[in-house]
Amino acid sequence: MANSKHIVVFSGAGMSAESGISTFRDNGGLWDKYDVTEVATPEAWRKNPALVLQFYNERRKQVLEAQPNDGHKALVSLEKQFKVSVITQNVDDLHERAGSSNVIHLHGEIRKARSTYDPSLIYNLKSWELNLGDRCEQGSQLRPHIVWFGEMVPEMARAQDITYTADILITIGTSLNVYPAAGLINHVQRGTKIYVVDPNDVPVHGIPDLVHLKEKAGIALPRLVEQLLAAE
Ligand code: APR
Repeated sequence: MANSKHIVVFSGAGMSAESGISTFRDNGGLWDKYDVTEVATPEAWRKNPALVLQFYNERRKQVLEAQPNDGHKALVSLEKQFKVSVITQNVDDLHERAGSSNVIHLHGEIRKARSTYDPSLIYNLKSWELNLGDRCEQGSQLRPHIVWFGEMVPEMARAQDITYTADILITIGTSLNVYPAAGLINHVQRGTKIYVVDPNDVPVHGIPDLVHLKEKAGIALPRLVEQLLAAE
């Protein structure tokens, strides 16, 4: 596919909603149930690591029980005719399990843990639990391999460079609330076609060349992918 077009997919929690994984800011979402400052910040980890580990254990259990939905699967079939880069804010591995071959996680990966001594020591978790006393090879406590609020987003520059080379950008299931990730949509070149898939309103006013498909991912993506494959 030497001269095939490059599609960049930018996904958020809504991408996995139909797989049964809670979003953050919908009614009943995670931030309705938990205080983000108590479970998803470095201060929370210092203050009460057991609560932080419990929060991610519960979410990891949900991820292990979930399956990719029709939206994840539709994105995989795009790879037949396009170069596809998936940039996700999600920490689940449903894009990979559906078969997407090129996935960047801006906010980390819930099925991985890393050393609190040396962040380059990263481990695949075998089960849903990561507990106090689980240590790296250097003997230090393992933490979730997640980017917490206030922490750097190491993959951000790479994600911006990739987005700049998009011929088409498809943004799915994100409220575009959290920066720097949400700023990605501004890194496309002028004239790049942008599709936004979200059943609710999202703050994309005034962005040119944008089509808002006001539908769930599992409904809108198979249709959009069919349309894009036919147009090639
Ligand atoms: N299909 C598509 N979109 C959906 C669906 C669905 N079935 N269900 C909900 N949505 C949309 C909602 O309308 C909302 O716009 O998904 C979006 C979910 O928004 P958030 O819960 O804010 O999730 P996200 O944008 O990914 O949050 C960004 O915030 O808490 C941090 O690090 C966390 O990565 C997360 C970041």
